[in-house]
Amino acid sequence: MALDDLVTEGAGVGADAIPNDLDAFWMPFTSNRSFKKRPRLVSRAKDMHYYTPEGRAILDGCAGLWCVNPGHNREPIVEAIRQAATEVDFAPTFQYGHPQAFRLASRIADLAPGDLDHVFFCNSGSEAVDTALKIALAYHQTTGAGTRTRLIGRERGYHGVGFGGISVGGIVSNRRTFGTMLTGVDHLRSTYDREHQAFTKGEPDYGAHFADELERIVALHDASTIASVIVEPMGGSTGVLPTPKGYLKRLREICDKYGILLIFDEVITGFGRLGHAFAAERYGVVPDMITFAKGITAGAVPMGGVLVRKGIHDAFMKGPEHVVELFHGYTYSAHPLACAAGLATLDLYAREHTFTHARALEPFFADAMMSLKDKPGVLDIRTVGITGAVDLAPKEGAPGLKGYEALERAFHEEGLMMRIAGDTLVVTPPLIISKDQVGELVEKLGRVIEKVA
Ligand SMILES: Cc1ncc(COP(=O)(O)O)c(C=O)c1O
Repeated sequence: MALDDLVTEGAGVGADAIPNDLDAFWMPFTSNRSFKKRPRLVSRAKDMHYYTPEGRAILDGCAGLWCVNPGHNREPIVEAIRQAATEVDFAPTFQYGHPQAFRLASRIADLAPGDLDHVFFCNSGSEAVDTALKIALAYHQTTGAGTRTRLIGRERGYHGVGFGGISVGGIVSNRRTFGTMLTGVDHLRSTYDREHQAFTKGEPDYGAHFADELERIVALHDASTIASVIVEPMGGSTGVLPTPKGYLKRLREICDKYGILLIFDEVITGFGRLGHAFAAERYGVVPDMITFAKGITAGAVPMGGVLVRKGIHDAFMKGPEHVVELFHGYTYSAHPLACAAGLATLDLYAREHTFTHARALEPFFADAMMSLKDKPGVLDIRTVGITGAVDLAPKEGAPGLKGYEALERAFHEEGLMMRIAGDTLVVTPPLIISKDQVGELVEKLGRVIEKVA
């Protein structure tokens, strides 16, 4: 077909127009055939809700995809993007710069704990993770410790879908079909232990000792071969796994003891999800790098980044000054529209005290989630910050089927968008959610659990 034949103008191409062919779009992380038989389309959004093309309201129980922390289509963010688009459509950040990028980096650094005061921008969480892993390797090279090449992740960890991210990640289905990935990777065990942790609100008391596994890994490989350890302060994608009390502190101590860099993947936990700008603050631990994405722009424009401690950044700033210090970057690193969205989003968080609101709401949210404990088939409920998960007993011989049915019923029958991880139902709504809306969300979830039992 000639390109001119494909030009779509005028009526019928707005957000509410229902496409007449769903075939061409190979949807990510989606059961494509089931979706296309019974689509779940949303075409507009405002504050706590999505709207279907027919105008049906859908309560957003997952902040889009863990990113719309201040609620949807907030005017100051929309206006900042609109304004930026009229000023500079694109500006390279290789050897050139635009003011908003520097402004945003400073603002993010101001929010970060300790001496995490440099920011490397990219466009997604996956890129942020690969960037952090590369900085870790390059840092050791540049400081004369080039034998440190081994990367340590954790079982059930999710660090995006780049080859670095799936290598250190610990989700079997994300790894199984993609070959050998990076070599020289090892994994800590998962911090989840249902027998000792079931139905805990917040961080479980049991499990700090799982961090000691790092000692075993060091003993096996020798510290001189290990570059970094990457963990999520709360495992998000495998069903909300808050780290046990004291675990992250212990991990920090062991990393310090052996000169291993500690990376917190805060792609989900950054920007208020756990009631703080970064989870590092909640846990009183300063990692060497923090990866972020999602909430920095409220999802309105793709953006990710890595916060880096001063000492790591400064180690690269040597040699002839005309030479590039780190051979890494993306065409769209610090894209002007993303920077504008980021600055407006941070302003909004500050003006509305979003993180404080999340912190204050956490106990109410946790109690509401725990009220589902006696619903049929519930095996465990976990909560932390404004995030909760309900493990359901799988249907015999069909793991994940109950979860999928719950997803469908929630959307079509209850007007609720949520996430599933197998048979685990996950809710992680925008942080502006009110107590009434928490009640509504949990009621909808409760009815869904009953229907699929
Ligand atoms: C902890 C964590 N890291 C990395 C990613 C990947 O982010 P993206 O999908 O933007 O590449 C995610 C996405 O959910 C995540 O939860």
